[in-house]
Amino acid sequence: MSQGFWTLGRENGIVELVLEVPGASANTLSRAVLLELEQHLSALTQARSEPVKGLVIRSNKPSGFAAGADIREFISLREPGAVRAQVELGHRVFNLIEALPFPTVAVIHGFCLGGGLELALACRYRVGFGDRKLAIGLPEVLLGIHPGYGGSVRSVRCIGVRQAMPLMLTGRKLKGKKAKDIGLIDRLCDDADAALTSAHELIRRQPAAHKAPILDRLFSTRPFRPFIKKPLLASVQRKVRAEHYPAPYALIDLWANFGVQGTEALRAEVDSIVRLAGTPTAANLVRLFLLQERLKSLGAADTQPAQRVHVIGAGVMGADIAAWCAQRGLQVTLQDRDSACLARGMQRAKEYFEKKIRDPAEREQALGRLRSDPSGSGIAEAECIIEAIVENLDAKRALLSSIEPKLAATAFIASNTSSIPLEEIATALRDPSRLVGLHFFNPVSLMPLVEIIHTSETSAQVLNQAIAVTQAISKLPLPCRSAPGFLVNRVLVPYMFEAMRAAREGLEFAVIDQAALDYGMPVGPIELADMVGLDVCRHVGSIVMQALGRPLPDMSELDALIAQGKLGRKTGAGLYRWENGKVVKPPAKTAREYPADLPDRLLLAMANEAVACWREGIVEDVDLIDAGLVFGSGYAPFRGGPLQAAAERGYDECITRLDTLANRYGSVFKPDLGWTSLPTSAIAGAE
Ligand code: NAI
Repeated sequence: MSQGFWTLGRENGIVELVLEVPGASANTLSRAVLLELEQHLSALTQARSEPVKGLVIRSNKPSGFAAGADIREFISLREPGAVRAQVELGHRVFNLIEALPFPTVAVIHGFCLGGGLELALACRYRVGFGDRKLAIGLPEVLLGIHPGYGGSVRSVRCIGVRQAMPLMLTGRKLKGKKAKDIGLIDRLCDDADAALTSAHELIRRQPAAHKAPILDRLFSTRPFRPFIKKPLLASVQRKVRAEHYPAPYALIDLWANFGVQGTEALRAEVDSIVRLAGTPTAANLVRLFLLQERLKSLGAADTQPAQRVHVIGAGVMGADIAAWCAQRGLQVTLQDRDSACLARGMQRAKEYFEKKIRDPAEREQALGRLRSDPSGSGIAEAECIIEAIVENLDAKRALLSSIEPKLAATAFIASNTSSIPLEEIATALRDPSRLVGLHFFNPVSLMPLVEIIHTSETSAQVLNQAIAVTQAISKLPLPCRSAPGFLVNRVLVPYMFEAMRAAREGLEFAVIDQAALDYGMPVGPIELADMVGLDVCRHVGSIVMQALGRPLPDMSELDALIAQGKLGRKTGAGLYRWENGKVVKPPAKTAREYPADLPDRLLLAMANEAVACWREGIVEDVDLIDAGLVFGSGYAPFRGGPLQAAAERGYDECITRLDTLANRYGSVFKPDLGWTSLPTSAIAGAE
């Protein structure tokens, strides 16, 4: 009943099983793939005629060995019984590999993640090739679960608790050299041929399988486990709460309660994963993963991304965008009308490379790709011009009309404006179809999203080019209709303004922020305002409110701070004090308790605006609204975004609550008309 996922080969008594899932860019371990593997393994153990000397498992996909379980299939399993059956299948197959009476070697390249690495860990040896392209890890925790095919146990057996736990708790990916250093792979070869030769040699020689260092084996014994559990737990508690992200806590408990010897630990892993798979956190994180994949694959597949980018404006944003593009392999020229600003921008980029790129050769190459270009000679050669000058319509219009005649025939212009309607900038161009917005978020290196702003005049080709270049620099493109505040800033404005109103009513800043932190936001709205810059908040906030015909809140205190030059983090003082880029919150005068309706005031203000954006068609659908807010503002990922959180709560309940808030706090809380026709997420498993 083979479906052709695995090809069986045999050479001198060594059997080879080669995985190649048809029609997919990467191998994933679906139920069918595992079942077929089980059949092959059973046949091998039963074959009596030709003795098997060893088994090599490898992949024929250029992208790598295996990227993990089939996520779409996994979330389609609604019933806990179905999840259990799937997990038990993985256990059965990988136990079978482990118990084979002959040596087994996984030959890995490219992606070897999650279930892929768990498969490799069930083999006696692992040989990797293509060092820098290897991406080895157990990232399940990022999906709200932990390894579930024996990986939580076998990884600790192989490399020890001190290496395996951080690997699983952070979900980070390792390159080949690092994986070799910690013993996750036994050999690291230059190419596939060398790796196969090495695998055959391991089968012939049969050295002892790699085991965790003796100290780690001691740490995994019952008496020592409580002592190691403590710092592990502390490292997780510093980052996330158990009620928000239960998986890392479950992983530590699993190890602390069952260790890694015998079959009990493996059985306990099954129970734990079945529990976690049923949590809203897992459903929401998986949905976001799929949304991320959606953003990565937007646009026309045949659009060639720009290789050369010219950035105009070497301020905070321009310099950071230029550095990011150069780091990601593009040829970049950076221009500013002010030579001192340009020099500062280049210096900023250099410091960024020094901080972020460890390999000196790579750092030099990135630096070599970025060129200071005071005269703008790069304009004619670039396929993409990014405008990041001051937020002033006349300045932007003057600049664009002056550069348009110099553009290469197929080049397009991308403005990084955060608040000026693109249509107004476009009138400066003879050909407005060449203009698009590329709205990067600050800080560029940390924020994964770029809003791609388009008007009715932006050509489809330019939109695709903008999407392609965004993807080429490893950012997530979110196409947005040109409208005040676009998506992310518009939804953030009511949230931040409501926080400031609560402050004017007498609530302490830190208490307001605490309400948002308790909900799961990475930072509270007051701290966020300081991070963005109070001047920027005020400016964008007023534009959004005015454009939407809403009354502006009392800004006198904000204006007073701005007049004193207290703009937030960038000036060392704002609503809070800042030291070395870190916020200094005053000790709370009151216990950090807040009125029961404060979380709703903040979060429903946001959800209500998100609904309005959906109704107005700012982005294509509700899924993209959530994606925008999570990837563009850090909205609590485990909640899935403002609309997913509202769906979980029930739209009717949200409307009722908004009505109550409107009675108490005014019309800003009037439920948007869109609530009554709002669909739920289109992604399976997310409801
Ligand atoms: P900035 O004030 O730090 O830098 C602007 C730079 O543009 C200055 O170096 C200035 O000398 C240069 N410049 C001004 N006019 C010029 C011209 N005609 N030709 C060449 N260079 C010129 O500004 P920032 O913060 O980098 O913002 C730039 C753009 O990015 C603005 O449109 C802003 O709205 C947008 N933006 C800003 C964000 C932020 O958090 N700062 C976030 C997202 C977008």
